[in-house]
Amino acid sequence: MHEAIAMPAWVGVAYLVAGVCFILALRGLSSPATSRRGNRLGIFGMGVAVATTLLTHDIASLPEILVAIAIGGGIGLFTAKKIAMTDMPQLVAGFHSLVGLAAVLVAAAAFLNPDAFGIVDPATGLIHAASRIEMGLGVAIGAITFSGSIIAFLKLAGKMSGKPIMLPGRHVINLGLLAGILILIGYFTVDQSAWVFWTITGLSFVIGFLLIVPIGGADMPVVVSMLNSYSGWAAAAMGFTLGNSAMIITGALVGSSGAILSYIMCRAMNRSFISVIAGGFGGDTGAGPAAAATDRPWKRGSAEDAAFLMQQAEQVIIVPGYGMAVAQAQHALREMGDLLKKEGVRVKYAIHPVAGRMPGHMNVLLAEANVPYDDVFELEDINGEFAQTDVAFVIGANDVTNPAAKTDKSSPIYGMPVLDVEKAKTVLFVKRSMGGVGYAGVDNSVFYMDNTMMLLADAKKMVDDIVKAMAH
Ligand code: TAP
Repeated sequence: MHEAIAMPAWVGVAYLVAGVCFILALRGLSSPATSRRGNRLGIFGMGVAVATTLLTHDIASLPEILVAIAIGGGIGLFTAKKIAMTDMPQLVAGFHSLVGLAAVLVAAAAFLNPDAFGIVDPATGLIHAASRIEMGLGVAIGAITFSGSIIAFLKLAGKMSGKPIMLPGRHVINLGLLAGILILIGYFTVDQSAWVFWTITGLSFVIGFLLIVPIGGADMPVVVSMLNSYSGWAAAAMGFTLGNSAMIITGALVGSSGAILSYIMCRAMNRSFISVIAGGFGGDTGAGPAAAATDRPWKRGSAEDAAFLMQQAEQVIIVPGYGMAVAQAQHALREMGDLLKKEGVRVKYAIHPVAGRMPGHMNVLLAEANVPYDDVFELEDINGEFAQTDVAFVIGANDVTNPAAKTDKSSPIYGMPVLDVEKAKTVLFVKRSMGGVGYAGVDNSVFYMDNTMMLLADAKKMVDDIVKAMAH
C-alpha cells in the first residue's frame, strides 16, 4: 500500500500543522488588516512542509533535491524581481503551466518506476488499481493545465492574438476528447499498458490547447484563475500517488480557492462559468465603435481645473484602473487624497472587482501607497453614492466605468456590473489619449458627457500636476 501509511507519526503531525497553517493563511489573506499575519503563517507552514519532506526524502537524494531547489528558486527569484507588476497575469499563467508539467512528470515517474513510489500490489506485481486512477486523473489534469496555461500565457503576453480562435465543431470535438480521456482512465485500471497512459497524456495536452484557444482576452482573468484551480487538483491527485498528505491538503486548498475565485470573477463580469469555458467572448470587439470615438464632441480640462473642482467638492470618489498601475500613480494619488482631506473634502476609493489586470490589483497598489483601508470600498458598497458625489475622479480605468455594460446589449461587456461614475455631478477622466481604448476594446460614452472633463496625460504626471496646483 501507500508509503504514507508506513510513515512515522510525527510526519503526519508535521503535515497536519502545515495544512492548518495554510488554512489560517488563506483566512488571514481575506482582509488587508490580517494579510501580513496570513502571509507569515503561510511561509511558516511551507517551511514545515519542506523541512519534513527533506527529512523524510526517499526517492531522490538530498543533494539532488537541494540542486533542484536552487535552480527552481533561482529562476523564480530572478523572474519575480524582473517582472513588471502589470505583467503579473502572464507570469501567474506561466507558473501554472509549470505546476501542470510537474504533475505530468511525477505521474510519468510513478508509472515508469512504481516500486520507488510504493504503489505496486505485491500479490499481482502490478500498480494498485486505485493508484492508476489517481495517476490517470493527475496526468490528465496536469497536462490540461500545462497546455492551457501556455496558451493563456501567450495570449496575455500579446505573443498570440487575444481574440478567440473558433474551430468549427469545437464543442463536439472537446466533449468527444473528454469522454475518450475518462474512458481511458477507467480502462487503465484493467490494463496498465504504456499506450493507455501516454494516450491519456497526449489527449489531455490537446484538449488543454483546444479549451483555451477559443477564449477571448476579456475572459482571460477567469481562465487564469480556473487554471490555478486545475493545477491545485492536479497536485492533490499527485499527493495521493506519492502518499503525501501535505500535497493533498495544499492541492485541495489551491483547487477550491481557485474555483471560488473563478466563480466570484464570473459574477463580477456577469458571465456564467459555462459560457466562459465554451469560449468565443470578445471575438467581435475591436476598432468599430472605438474608431468613431474622436468624432464626437468632448471637453478637455487642465490639472488646475481639476484641482479647483475637487477642492470645492464635499465628496470625491477616486476610481483607479489599469492605467494607474501602468503609470504607478498610486503614491501621488494618496498625496492628492491627503491634500483634499486637509481641506475638509471626503475622499473615497471605489474598487471594481476586475479593475486592473489581476484580482486585488488595485487593493495591493493602494495598500502599497498606504491609502487607509477604511477609505477603500467595494463596488456594491459604494455604487449608490455616486449620485450624491460632486466629483468622480477616474484614473486609468475604462471598462469598469462603461455604462454600455448596462444599456448596450451588443457590447462585449454587456451585463458586467460597472461603477456608476456618470451619476456624479462632475466626472474627471484621466487617460493618455482619446483614441486609447480599455481592455475590451470598446468606446466609453462617459468621455462625451456634458459633465465630463477629460484630463489627457500620463496618470502619474497628471496627478503630480494636480498636487502642485492644489499647493498654490
Ligand atoms: P481598462 O479598461 O483596460 O482601461 C485602462 C485605461 O487606462 C485605458 O483607457 C487607457 O487609456 C488608460 N491608460 C493606460 N495607461 C495609462 C497611463 N500611463 N496613464 C493614464 N492612463 C492610462 O482598465 P480597467 O477599467 O481597470 O478594466 C480592467 C479590464 O481588464 C476589464 O475589462 C477586465 O475584465 C480586464 N481584466 C481584468 C483582470 C483582473 S482580474 N482585474 C485581468 C485581465 C483582464 P489610454 O491608452 O488612452 O491612456
